[in-house]
Amino acid sequence: MNPLECKLKRLSQAKPQDFRAMRVLVRVDYNVPLKEGKVVNNERIKQTLPTIRWLLEQECRVVLMSHLGRPKGKVVEELRMNPVAEELSKLLGKKVLKLDDCIGADVESAVASMGKGEVVLLENTRFHPEEKANDPEFSKRLAELGEVFVFEAFGTAHRNDASTVGVQAHFNERYIGFLVEREIEGITKVLQAIESKRPFVLVLGGKKISDKLGVIQYMSKHADYILIGGAMGFPILKAQGKPIGKSYCEEEAIPIVKAQNLEQVPALSLPLDYLVGETLDATSAKSVSSEEIPGDRIALDIGEETIRHYTEIIRRAGTVIWNGPMGYFENPVFARGTIAVGKAVAQAPVSLIGGGDTISAIEQHLKEYKSKYSHVSTGGGALLELLSGRPLVALNQ
Ligand code: 3PG
Repeated sequence: MNPLECKLKRLSQAKPQDFRAMRVLVRVDYNVPLKEGKVVNNERIKQTLPTIRWLLEQECRVVLMSHLGRPKGKVVEELRMNPVAEELSKLLGKKVLKLDDCIGADVESAVASMGKGEVVLLENTRFHPEEKANDPEFSKRLAELGEVFVFEAFGTAHRNDASTVGVQAHFNERYIGFLVEREIEGITKVLQAIESKRPFVLVLGGKKISDKLGVIQYMSKHADYILIGGAMGFPILKAQGKPIGKSYCEEEAIPIVKAQNLEQVPALSLPLDYLVGETLDATSAKSVSSEEIPGDRIALDIGEETIRHYTEIIRRAGTVIWNGPMGYFENPVFARGTIAVGKAVAQAPVSLIGGGDTISAIEQHLKEYKSKYSHVSTGGGALLELLSGRPLVALNQ
């Protein structure tokens, strides 16, 4: 498969003196999970530190911008960037000034008065409807906050927004930071290994099949096996007229599943059995065949027979890409499938894992295996876009 395309220059190849004391606008992806006003997983923030530190070594004035959640063009108090600024400050060991907006006179004067080596974090760019609309005037106002642009938001590289794409038209000097470069290198190596390190196994899980239809369609031409787990299998079972009990099912996807004839994809495997429970927080589970999910139960994990079948296939693989947990891993009763698959993937000669929930599952149950995967991506939707054979719009400006 083709390497990832990127038209921006690399910060790793830049001359430090060209950055000396410059005002640098950096698009990061600080769309991180929050709970009770605190960041619960700071991985995406941590991974931007090398770029920020490098810029600070050149005494740059660093202006960071990001979206957080989906506030739909309005101010949503719970989606302010304050907890992110606090976390970044802690990690950086340096004060990060958080502003109350991302454009406007107050922002412009705060940015103009920044001293050398200072860091500012703008407010959530999605509080303005112009962000998602990729509005040219809004893009211009953002761009005026920096003399040089660094794109470090790999997780948002598939979004055609003002802060990811529109803004770039106003800069002669555009770079990718160290995080994006690491993602490009890591993912390219895995995609290229697909040709020589066979079999190639794609493991897909998670809640929604609609996010992954493009991946299945594109990868069915490349993968020897596509193993399905999580709730994304239920629209397929339902389309086949099979009972799924009270399991979560993305109903809107059923007509598309039927139209795409997914069950005819030769590489595709569905679970043979499931673990079912009465509720999400059930303390006990029962194993049933995938043909016989009882009407009053929720299927919440793949069953033993499926674990055996899937892990045998993964153990023989040369290359594995895994996106999406096999079950409701948040409850340890239903984490077995995800843990077994995660351990098997870790043994593959070449492996790539990604997606917010997959990373959370690794953090919760498989931390000691993390270093065994060839590449762990910070991308969720961005990675799925790539695996659907589409280039990332923000890297191709
Ligand atoms: C992500 O978490 O996948 C990115 O930050 C993009 O977020 P979005 O799907 O809300 O655009």
